[in-house]
Amino acid sequence: MRFASDNGSGAAPEVMAALIRANDGYERSYGADAAMGRVTTLVRDLFQAPEAAVHLVATGTAANALAIATHCPPWGAAFCHTHAHVAEDECNAPEFYSGAKLVLVPGDHGKITQETLAASLATTGEGGVHGVQRGMLTLTNVTEAGTVYTPAEIKALTALAKAYDLPCHLDGARFANSLVATGVTPAEMTWQAGIDVLSLGGTKNGCLGVEAVVLFDPAKAWEFELRRKRGGHLFSKHRYLSAQMEAYLTDGLWLRLAAQANAMGQRLASGLATKPGTSQAHPVQANMQFPLWPEGTHDRLERAGAVYYRLPAPPGREVARLVTSWSTTEADVDAFLAAV
Ligand SMILES: Cc1ncc(COP(=O)(O)O)c(C=O)c1O
Repeated sequence: MRFASDNGSGAAPEVMAALIRANDGYERSYGADAAMGRVTTLVRDLFQAPEAAVHLVATGTAANALAIATHCPPWGAAFCHTHAHVAEDECNAPEFYSGAKLVLVPGDHGKITQETLAASLATTGEGGVHGVQRGMLTLTNVTEAGTVYTPAEIKALTALAKAYDLPCHLDGARFANSLVATGVTPAEMTWQAGIDVLSLGGTKNGCLGVEAVVLFDPAKAWEFELRRKRGGHLFSKHRYLSAQMEAYLTDGLWLRLAAQANAMGQRLASGLATKPGTSQAHPVQANMQFPLWPEGTHDRLERAGAVYYRLPAPPGREVARLVTSWSTTEADVDAFLAAV
């Protein structure tokens, strides 16, 4: 009954096996390993993006911060949702690496809307040399509220940004979960919807620690490489990052793992929907949900051994954040529902 985070899950057996294989013998360092070449080919094929540049780092924060730094000038605004991970959970790493300012754009259920983005774009950059300039747009899918943008929604937002010639980033820490939730292709969710750079998550969904930064326009690739090295995120024994990402993207493993996480999310949500006095703060569309339930439920669940985060709640109610992962089983979910 462990629903605190998909980061709490282990690594998938296929990923572990690939690491053991990668451990054999001698390999070139700093990203020149043979497996990195295969990762680049896999990403280009999966995204139908033959020119894309692919770089690996070990954390989502590094992926986001370096992607933002590469696309936003220090005098620029990086527009993001009010509760974006880059704004609330990365200890100012995006600002540290880029020098840019995060400008928070509101919207229900974790999503920026066309109206809120248009308003924010219109009112930023009007101060001439004295004010922050428009810099870039950064979105998250799956969002921090567990909801999922469709490609059409992403395209509508990137179109507003592109009217000002702004590059667009997608924080895809749970990108595979967003693909499974919508049934669209990686290309449809990214460059075909106006995304220029993607943080492609692996860690939450069955890797030990690897994220890919995918630059759909490779013109920025060298700058990215320099920033990664300067920022201390170029791994010497890079083969271990490559091995994880290669296994993750081979034979659809990433989508199978995300499908399990999402299916367990749906099972949990369907079960909770039958419990008296229980509702959801946001639509449940992937592997993260925020149920509200009657007071006293937290204590009962924790006594039964459940692990998850408690969130601030309105009077008389309690709110939880529950995250399912590739390793969540039906038995885990059913035990939790029984305890509720
Ligand atoms: C939406 C989102 N982006 C990025 C990250 C990456 O974080 P980390 O640096 O912990 O790997 C997370 C992790 O919680 C996340 O939820």
